[in-house]
Amino acid sequence: MPPPALVDHLALAGVAGTNKVMAGEMSRLAGRALKGFRLPEPQKVGLGGLRYPFRADLAAVAVRYHRTASRVLWDLYESRATRLEPLYDDLCDAVRQETRPWLRDGATFSVSPGATRTFAAGGRQMVGVVKNALIDGAAARGMRLSVDADAPDVFFVVNAHEDVVTVSIDLAGQAMNLRGYRTEGGGAAPLRENLAAVLVMLARHDGRAEVLVDPMAGSGTIAIEAACMAQGRPVWVPPRAPAATRLPPLDEALRAPAEALFGDTRPLVFANELDPATHARSRQNVARAGVADLVRTSRGDFRDLQPRVVLDAARARGFDPERGLILCNPPYGERLEPRELLRLYRDLGAWCRQFRGWRAGILVANPEFVTAFGGRPRIEKPLNNGPLRGYFYLYDA
Ligand SMILES: C[S@@+](CC[C@H](N)C(=O)[O-])C[C@H]1O[C@@H](n2cnc3c(N)ncnc32)[C@H](O)[C@@H]1O
Repeated sequence: MPPPALVDHLALAGVAGTNKVMAGEMSRLAGRALKGFRLPEPQKVGLGGLRYPFRADLAAVAVRYHRTASRVLWDLYESRATRLEPLYDDLCDAVRQETRPWLRDGATFSVSPGATRTFAAGGRQMVGVVKNALIDGAAARGMRLSVDADAPDVFFVVNAHEDVVTVSIDLAGQAMNLRGYRTEGGGAAPLRENLAAVLVMLARHDGRAEVLVDPMAGSGTIAIEAACMAQGRPVWVPPRAPAATRLPPLDEALRAPAEALFGDTRPLVFANELDPATHARSRQNVARAGVADLVRTSRGDFRDLQPRVVLDAARARGFDPERGLILCNPPYGERLEPRELLRLYRDLGAWCRQFRGWRAGILVANPEFVTAFGGRPRIEKPLNNGPLRGYFYLYDA
């Protein structure tokens, strides 16, 4: 029996309310990448967390391909200690028994605080305790670990959830949304990449058969995520790479070339944007993400975007023009007059309804949206965009 502080989980952390979406994506990826492997049902941790029994090959798939998670973690130690000294004892004991290959003589590490509010001591003190326990526990095994805050071999994170403290390795070593395709700066606030991927999943985009149009695409995040997800592309755009590329036992699996898992799918995506500078940024992002052949960008008011142009392109690609998806997050009101904003929502509703048989998925944080857009959403799901309390609505057009 392992001591109680040793655990072995692959954990996915994401946006609150997206457990099902994250599990659905994991199942799609594992089914394709790991032939013959049956993915067990995950254990839910809170509203935005999942846990699977750890396997290096599954962890490598998650950290390379999972687009809706914001963190991919390898949970190593748990403790129910409520004070710092017993926490140190638990962790030190556990590290002394460690046989997993991440622990090697001379390795460097960093520790960052995750959610630590439920623990009596502050995050900084917890971090100190974890560092000491790792160093002392490894020393008892005759191995030397040292802290390197800037470029460590192993990125640890400590979280407290309810009455359990968990120490994990952050397998990407960074937030999963930092894909490496986005040019930062100015313009409309872009959606987090993993939240954009959540919208694509919630709207059940089928990239093999359906066009996707984002009429107010901003920097193009939804369009890029939809194209990448349809092809099962790796999350990371080189030279960006997950830290686990250097971490045994994932390093071997991650040395294999990062192929798209569904590379034979040819999605067709449109990204339209009004603002010239933002449109220019969307074009750069699309190019950097390597999806310029799949995403067609255009500049202008969506009201001038003719459905015929989109439907003709769908036909030319061999798609049924009676099926398709409009997906966007329109302005919420920070820049426009309330009356102008309501007119925008109303016009968006009318524009969407020209696409017969299609679905429209909208993420918005404005209580007046539903009335202005018109019709009744089939799905209405609370979904926050960072600090903004929003809703995701799905309509049949
Ligand atoms: C909330 S932002 C979308 C952010 C985007 N999802 C991203 O990740 O970058 C809304 C965008 O709608 C654009 N917009 C506003 N009115 C528009 C219109 N009439 N036609 C096209 N785009 C419009 C704005 O310029 C802004 O970039």
